[in-house]
Amino acid sequence: MTDTLTPVLTAHWDQPGLFTMDGYRRSGGWQVLPQALAMPPEDLVAAVRNSGLRGRGGAGFPTGTKWSFLPQGDGKPHYLVINADESEPGACKDVPLMMANPHLLIEGVAITAYAIRAEHAFIYVRGEVLHVVRRLRHAVQEAYAAGYLGRNILGSGFNLDVIVHAGAGAYICGEETALLTSLEGYRGLPRLKPPFPAVEGLYACPTVINNVESIASVPSIVANGADWFAGLGTDKSKGYGIFSLSGHVTMPGQYEAPLGITLAELLSLAGGVRAGHRLKFWTAGGSSVGLLTDQHQDVPLDFESVAAAGSQLGTRSLQIFDETACVVRAVLRWTEFYQHESCGKCTPCREGTFWMVRILDRLEHGKGTDEDLDKLLDICDNINGRAFCPLGDGATPPVTSGIQYFRDEFMQHQKEGGCPFDPAASTLWGTS
Ligand SMILES: Cc1cc2nc3c(=O)[nH]c(=O)nc-3n(C[C@H](O)[C@H](O)[C@H](O)COP(=O)(O)O)c2cc1C
Ligand code: SF4
Repeated sequence: MTDTLTPVLTAHWDQPGLFTMDGYRRSGGWQVLPQALAMPPEDLVAAVRNSGLRGRGGAGFPTGTKWSFLPQGDGKPHYLVINADESEPGACKDVPLMMANPHLLIEGVAITAYAIRAEHAFIYVRGEVLHVVRRLRHAVQEAYAAGYLGRNILGSGFNLDVIVHAGAGAYICGEETALLTSLEGYRGLPRLKPPFPAVEGLYACPTVINNVESIASVPSIVANGADWFAGLGTDKSKGYGIFSLSGHVTMPGQYEAPLGITLAELLSLAGGVRAGHRLKFWTAGGSSVGLLTDQHQDVPLDFESVAAAGSQLGTRSLQIFDETACVVRAVLRWTEFYQHESCGKCTPCREGTFWMVRILDRLEHGKGTDEDLDKLLDICDNINGRAFCPLGDGATPPVTSGIQYFRDEFMQHQKEGGCPFDPAASTLWGTS
């Protein structure tokens, strides 16, 4: 564990014009692809497996292991799909990465596609971020013109086409099977697993689907070696990652550090909680995870330690709330998001999120009862493990942990006949 930042993916973000081919080359870019093309593909898969890189899209599945699941010599096309949907509240690392350094991702795509023997790669970007779509498409064009994409890349005999696809803006399309369905042109609904995408993914062919940050990490692993990456981070959560701090923090932004850094350390780098206030609660990884409190500031932010503390590392999107924030209101907002984004395919999630919003809304307005809290927990019980996909499960931890840590605050609303907090005070421009 360390308290220092390790800028690798974010290393050159302040360099003017980094997003262009010339800018990326000035930062040493596009030098790893030739090295990778000289290696047998299976050695690249082994390097990523030995590095210990775990998926940066939330679940933390070992990346090299996922790649090795692809059947070889099956005569079917293989596909690489990059999950750039990034839609969860608080999640904001992939968009800045693609804006600042799109070529880094594209070089990672080229190396990965070669490693898994794919000749087609898709980058599925959330449609609302049109500026990112444009920037990626421009970078892809430049990479074709420079001979890093297309036919017979750098004389290696390897061919690769990269398509930047804009989604229509639905959180469910970040779920990997819904994303594939959407990419095929259908409504983005999740599919039953198994079969897993590695066996039957895009167009029923073997497919690797990885997060932007996972694939953008590949060039540095190939360049510096698996041991270098494995030497960073903790025992089971190797390497570095981008920690996105937002909310009531003095300097919100992206902090790239080894896994295992703590919130206390990150806050000290970010100037602390906004002046004159103190930490009340926070999330370690977006909104599908349990809330943590000021007592968890020294929990190492790695997959295992955060799980042991009762939450999940997820996407390392740290949402910070000070004492002006109302837990009931925050949990209501997140639940409204899940209700809105529920695709409606299965009953526990579709109905459960609907009713949770109604109950939370009356609790927030001081019209709830003690039984409402039990009812909320009961609904969570009925969603968890019964929903068709992880979106439903993800809607419950903010509710259950909110009640676990702040039951009194829920009841205070009832006693006072309304929310005891001033919403204006919790806005970033609030002064009280
Ligand atoms: C509702 C939902 C939304 C998701 N959104 C994203 C996303 O925007 N980006 C992402 O990389 N993974 C997202 N995931 C996780 C993906 O299903 C998948 O695990 C991930 O893309 C795998 O890549 P990785 O192994 O590199 O992390 C989401 C999962 C769910 C259930
Ligand atoms: S849990 Fe069910 S309703 Fe919710 S998003 Fe997944 S499939 Fe759709």
